[in-house]
Amino acid sequence: MVENSQLQLTKKLNLTTHHINHFAEPIEIEQLAVRYGTPLYITDESTLHKKVRDLRNAYSKFNGQVKLAYSVKANFTPAVLLSFIRDGITFDITSLGELHFLKRCKAPPENVIYTSVTEEFQEYYEVLQTGIKKVVVSSFSGMTNLAKAAQMLSVKPLTMVRVNPEVGVKAEIRASYRNGKFGVPFNGGTIDSATKMVKHLMDNDLLHFEGFHFHLGSQITDFSCFIHAIDKMHNFMTKMKKEFPRFTVNTLDIGGGTPVYYNESVPTPSQMADSYVPRLNRLIESHGPFDLLIESGRYLVAESSILISKIVNTKEYNEQKVVIVDTGYHLLLDAALLKQEYPQETVSARGSINEQSRNTNGKSIHLAGRLCDTYDVFPQSKASDLTGAKIGRYISFYNVGAYSVVFNMPFHCQTKPSIVMKTSNGEYKLVRRGTSYEQLFIDEGGSLI
Ligand SMILES: Cc1ncc(COP(=O)(O)O)c(C=O)c1O
Repeated sequence: MVENSQLQLTKKLNLTTHHINHFAEPIEIEQLAVRYGTPLYITDESTLHKKVRDLRNAYSKFNGQVKLAYSVKANFTPAVLLSFIRDGITFDITSLGELHFLKRCKAPPENVIYTSVTEEFQEYYEVLQTGIKKVVVSSFSGMTNLAKAAQMLSVKPLTMVRVNPEVGVKAEIRASYRNGKFGVPFNGGTIDSATKMVKHLMDNDLLHFEGFHFHLGSQITDFSCFIHAIDKMHNFMTKMKKEFPRFTVNTLDIGGGTPVYYNESVPTPSQMADSYVPRLNRLIESHGPFDLLIESGRYLVAESSILISKIVNTKEYNEQKVVIVDTGYHLLLDAALLKQEYPQETVSARGSINEQSRNTNGKSIHLAGRLCDTYDVFPQSKASDLTGAKIGRYISFYNVGAYSVVFNMPFHCQTKPSIVMKTSNGEYKLVRRGTSYEQLFIDEGGSLI
């Protein structure tokens, strides 16, 4: 009954239902935890491929070519990169470190788009040397550095201008705001504005103008910001066309932001795309065809991974039970930083209701991490089910594939856990070996003393 009314409410609000990706059976989780120890990440390769298909399908009503770019910042595990390379998608990267990872995984350089924040000459030199053709510039001096590097290497990169549309974004993580760090405004009055940069690119022997990029934020559920940004882009393109008759846009990159279920139901990628694809089609009618680039980090990887942690201690007060696990925010930083409510579940809880109620006695559960830090307490999702939590059992943290492994840190001399991938043919394969205290000691200079 409760589930039914929740479903009706969800339908009314036009949102997706909760999504917990039970790709591994409890018995498999327990076996893997015993074999590799905890904490342990498990990543499902089929989910990675499915998310690529779902995101691509969402934009099927766009009257032009759609390209997907995986934002490597969300999860740079080589096995994850390799799965996406097999899908033939593009990669959105921001640093020479990420470039190194892609090179080692043999990603084709023509499938890479480089969007730097620092935009140094030496950085661009190495990027172009690798054979990358598409570069997004975000400042006039960055564009000058790219031109210098291009001249020295006798190449002519396809250059995109990152604009900051300065639209209001209702999301936890906002990347577009006035006087912001990312991109340049359309017309800010200085050389660091899209107007001046496009003008410079129009008659440029060293750089080829390719189009525009904007990124509004992450975990966006109110899509009016995309509509406002596209409308501003439309006006700007009309203005540029009047000034430069040869002005054409070959690629429009509308960044990331596709949301994921944590605590509240979120719209699907199709619902997201449907809200602004008609605007993009109108842009094509007015300005001719362009390729649409959709960047995505969170959506493509979040649901692919779970973190398994063991309950190592408990204590009971009159109203509450404190459950202490062997993980902490050093493995799930956003739980502390953004109060992200990852859905958690006691691994053996499903299907054993009598036993569950005996263990928790109706008390609410406070899920605490192993770090000696006040912030190391895990917020719980509406989908969390911690009944049956007792010492020795495992807890699965769901939807942790994005922005977690990449933030693993050694606070309290904690090591990095192993990562096991469930491959597309259903086998479990170790794809990252956990580190040891001795390795950490050496990394921290232990061998230099
Ligand atoms: C330029 C750019 N593109 C794409 C993304 C990915 O965003 P999301 O993870 O919300 O898809 C980010 C995230 O910070 C970004 O900075």
